Amino acid sequence: MTLALSKGRILEDTLPMLSAAGVTPEEDPLTSRKLVFATNDPGLRLLVIRASDVPTFVAYGAADVGVAGKDVLVEHGGRDLYEPLDLGIARCRMMVAGLPGALDGPASRPLRVATKYVETARAHFARVGRQVEIIKLYGSMELAPIVGLADVIVDLVDTGNTLRANGLEAFTEIDTISSRLVVNKASMKMKHAAIQRLLATFATATGGGD
Ligand code: ADP
Ligand code: PRP
Ligand code: MG
Repeated sequence: MTLALSKGRILEDTLPMLSAAGVTPEEDPLTSRKLVFATNDPGLRLLVIRASDVPTFVAYGAADVGVAGKDVLVEHGGRDLYEPLDLGIARCRMMVAGLPGALDGPASRPLRVATKYVETARAHFARVGRQVEIIKLYGSMELAPIVGLADVIVDLVDTGNTLRANGLEAFTEIDTISSRLVVNKASMKMKHAAIQRLLATFATATGGGD
């Protein structure tokens, strides 16, 4: 059984859950340069990969199970994965934000939206019937309105510190975000018992199951 973990802040929240479940990696994934970790359970190994790549590894069966943010799952599409458990970690909100008044926008052209969440932004503005031009970025979205690259951004907000530090305000909540367990569809059939055991372990660690 292969479990794909998102590196970064999700990993920091996932490792204590694994530890509580009695799973010990051969080395500390927070400090090691390894990408594959054997564990004290001979039937379980861990992969540590970019958060946005987890759905791809699981969808193709390179991992049976993964931990991924809902933001990443929405962008991926998710139809080729099962999503059986909300782990309740790495909670934040997907929001539209910008300089005060920016959502009123210029009437002369479509609203410019900078984001790494292109599909999420497209779906949101389609839902509210607003014409937009989407500018794909890979990080530091908060910079875009300040330098006139975009009118608004679509990005994650947790404490609001990053928005505040850059003079931006949040306008609209698009979604609430947390990390989920995702399961490869074939693995769910072929390795049913082992996956149910892993799910039960995580459910106990989240306080959400028996
Ligand atoms: P990345 O380099 O992809 O931004 P992160 O570790 O910052 O990696 O984010 C991984 C996941 O953690 C995101 O997909 C999201 O689900 C969640 N996340 C991101 N930023 C925050 C935040 N500020 N607070 C809580 N959760 C967050
Ligand atoms: C995330 C997100 C926001 C910030 C929100 O960035 O893209 O910029 O956190 O959190 P806050 O509301 O608590 O300030 P992150 O720190 O992950 O930076 P990066 O993804 O651009 O590396
Ligand atoms: Mg980040």
